[in-house]
Amino acid sequence: MAKSDTAKAGKKSTPVDLCNGDAKADKPDKLECNHNHVETAETETRSNIKEREDSLRKLESELSKKEIGLIEREIKLLSFQQELDRLRPLSGLYRVVKAMATERKLDSMLEVITRETASMLRCDRCSVFVLDIHRGELWTQLAQGLEGHRTIRVPMSGNSVVSLCARTGRVINIPDAYSDPRFDPEVDKSTGYHTKNILCVPMHNRNGAVIGVFEVMNKDIATFTQEDEEWLQALAAVAAGLIEQAQAYSEIEHFVDKTVETLAQTIDKRDPLTAGHSIRVTRYSLSIGDNMAISDDEKDVLRYAAMMHDYGKIGVPEAILWKNGRLTPEEYACVQTHARLTYELLSNLPFTNRLAHVPFIASCHHEKLDGTGYYRGLKGHEIPFLARVITVSDVFDALTSVRHYRNRMNIVKVYEIMESGRDNHFDPEVVDAFYGLPCDRVMRVMESERGGQIPEEVDVFKTISWLRLVEICQGSKPKRGEENLKDLFYRIYNANLPPDYQELD
Ligand SMILES: [Fe+2]
Repeated sequence: MAKSDTAKAGKKSTPVDLCNGDAKADKPDKLECNHNHVETAETETRSNIKEREDSLRKLESELSKKEIGLIEREIKLLSFQQELDRLRPLSGLYRVVKAMATERKLDSMLEVITRETASMLRCDRCSVFVLDIHRGELWTQLAQGLEGHRTIRVPMSGNSVVSLCARTGRVINIPDAYSDPRFDPEVDKSTGYHTKNILCVPMHNRNGAVIGVFEVMNKDIATFTQEDEEWLQALAAVAAGLIEQAQAYSEIEHFVDKTVETLAQTIDKRDPLTAGHSIRVTRYSLSIGDNMAISDDEKDVLRYAAMMHDYGKIGVPEAILWKNGRLTPEEYACVQTHARLTYELLSNLPFTNRLAHVPFIASCHHEKLDGTGYYRGLKGHEIPFLARVITVSDVFDALTSVRHYRNRMNIVKVYEIMESGRDNHFDPEVVDAFYGLPCDRVMRVMESERGGQIPEEVDVFKTISWLRLVEICQGSKPKRGEENLKDLFYRIYNANLPPDYQELD
């Protein structure tokens, strides 16, 4: 027993105090007393040992309970993690399939598929190569950060693993690229990427023909497993049908776009001076739409409505449309009928579902916020937002184009007209979105459809907005790098104008 314990035991021992208190006691009595004393101490010591043993056992039991609890928690966490790892491909598959079902456009669909598949299979890269049967090539898009995408094309007959997979229609799983003869290290040399392992799975259409290849590279731990092959094959099977569908949709959309563009040009081309008007209005409108973050569906509606906004001019006699001078009130009334005609003619086309409002929006491009426009005399928010976008683009293009009765208008004057129409004619937010556009973007549209190439110098205007160019032209002191922009702009703007035209207002 430890010293302190002995002392503690002694303090509690009342018999010792009684014996020591009898100074006259005989020796045997003393021995007996000592004997009793020792016995009592031993009993107490045993009892203390037992007491301590019990408390140690209790402590031990509590500790082991806690330890067991901790171990059990660890096991639970581990099994949660394993469960999560097991479910990762399932949740990835869910996200991919959901995206594939909601995305109509091939580019957006491929972007989601590659992102989710890479996360699902825990690999560094995923590419979906689509077969371009006409060119005998497989193409994919490589994300370029904020700058968009770069299309990569590989020939079907080439040496790449992707080409081999497409030609044979078989799964190719390469655990160590540099020790496999099927891998061509030249690919890494050209891209700067270091390939470690590759898994390629072919995509088949309903007839069993290969329509593309799924390629995943550089698994983060170990190499691609049999299970990864099965997951990728499952994805490839779902993706193949949807990619075919998206391709068909894209072809139809392209056909419709070209048809609408051709219809619009039949009107614009009746007069060489208005040629390209509908295309430019469409491009200005889409640029404003981008600046105002409109949705993809709204962009489609805007594209068709802007392209067809003047279609009703087919019913206006050329003698009035081409008149060199001011119109009489009767002639002006005749021109105004084109908005109604646009609505009536477009309503005959099967614009349905998300495109159902195209005829109405197209026919509202001469409405004004204060209700003084035509042909319905709508006010403020009665005018659809996309129509308000077309209105700004339409007026801007008309003022910056040559007309039978005047030259291209000076852009300072154009600005003043647009500003005077703020709040009564134009939606001020749309005007601001237009003036916030990069100057080079506006100039590329402005100078398009003029029969020549866009001058390379337009590039130097990309650092300023259209509004800044107007300010410089208004006399604002040019900042560093802006010194020559005014002269350069007017040289481009006034180039190739008919010699007998004056800069009129
Ligand atoms: Fe019009």
